Amino acid sequence: MANPFQYEKLPTADNFCGREVESERLHNLILDSKNVVLFGDRRYGKTSLIEHVFRGLPKTVLHAFADLFACTDSTEVAQALYKAVYDALPFDLDSKLKEISGLFKRATFEIQTTNSGSIKARPRLEGRDFEELLNDALSGAERFCEKHGCTLVIALDEFQQVAEIKDKRIDAILRAYMQRLTYISFIFSGSKKSILSGLFIDKKQPLYGMATSISIGGIELPTLKTFCEERLGQRFDDEVFELLYEQVRGQTKLILQSCYWLYANGWELNAPNTHKVVQQIIEEKDEEFRLLFNGFKAQQKKALKMIGRYGGKNLFKQENLEPFGLTRQGLSQVLVALIGSGDVIKEDKTYLVADVHFHLWIVKNFS
Ligand SMILES: Nc1ncnc2c1ncn2[C@@H]1O[C@H](COP(=O)(O)OP(=O)(O)OP(=O)(O)O)[C@@H](O)[C@H]1O
Ligand SMILES: [Mg+2]
Repeated sequence: MANPFQYEKLPTADNFCGREVESERLHNLILDSKNVVLFGDRRYGKTSLIEHVFRGLPKTVLHAFADLFACTDSTEVAQALYKAVYDALPFDLDSKLKEISGLFKRATFEIQTTNSGSIKARPRLEGRDFEELLNDALSGAERFCEKHGCTLVIALDEFQQVAEIKDKRIDAILRAYMQRLTYISFIFSGSKKSILSGLFIDKKQPLYGMATSISIGGIELPTLKTFCEERLGQRFDDEVFELLYEQVRGQTKLILQSCYWLYANGWELNAPNTHKVVQQIIEEKDEEFRLLFNGFKAQQKKALKMIGRYGGKNLFKQENLEPFGLTRQGLSQVLVALIGSGDVIKEDKTYLVADVHFHLWIVKNFS
């Protein structure tokens, strides 16, 4: 039988677990045409949640999804948004070509035959100016919604990328549009909480107060446990699952991945086997994480090693600083920068590498 766990693809409706409260909240905010900023650490399930909620929207609420992860300048952001909006409009090819060319001025449409033999119209965008493209996409979509009696929600995933783009103040331009739009709302989501909150929570920033926040953490332990047990056909002892959940900070992907390997190996659900699969999962990424680690500056590497060595606690104790040749002030500066870039988070008095998987690798290698 095929392995019932998937951890790389976004879950289908049947494979979606939990998140009832967050789903309902997001669903209602979308119906209310509110803008939303969705926070959550890597691999906890932001994108999965957005897709899940999109699937349950009424037909009169159109949804567009743009992943800004790879965007390097404002033009690429506008192009991603434009294509997402275009894809969201429901037309058959014939009417699409007729109506769409009236709505959008900056796009011409190419007819392409897909691998499966169906015919598709792909937009080819003219011009590279952010505001022109944005204006064209949004005003075209507004006219469409007005005419067809619908609304549109646009998800801009990995929105923190916008903070890295310096050729235009994308956030300021977007704000101006958001205030004028009648039928369109946005979901801004991303994993680098410090950067994303810098854009929305800081009073001096243009997007301050423009969106309602939703934060997601781990799926609730009992829900996730039952979900996994049903698929494994076995029960976990409470302590065994709790230990796994705690070790991977409740990160959805790592828990599903662990269960994938427990299932694949046909292993009993005990603590040693659970520990073994987690170690394998850390090992799998060894090469990638070595490269990632080497990309940090020398002082940052020291701070990361300290997090590994002391489990992120008591880093400022003299006896802990000494072996690393760091001063309190030096360490403090490095940690502030690592938190600012979203690589490290501080929970209570503990410093943790934000990406749980990378954190586990750091602990394994430097403790
Ligand atoms: N509610 C869920 N039900 C079932 N599987 C889920 C759920 N949420 C997340 N997953 C699993 O975890 C993986 C990671 O989730 P997802 O890509 O949605 O996280 P993310 O927070 O968007 O991560 P990133 O910050 O890397 O973009 C998914 O591929 C999916 O396999
Ligand atoms: Mg995502």
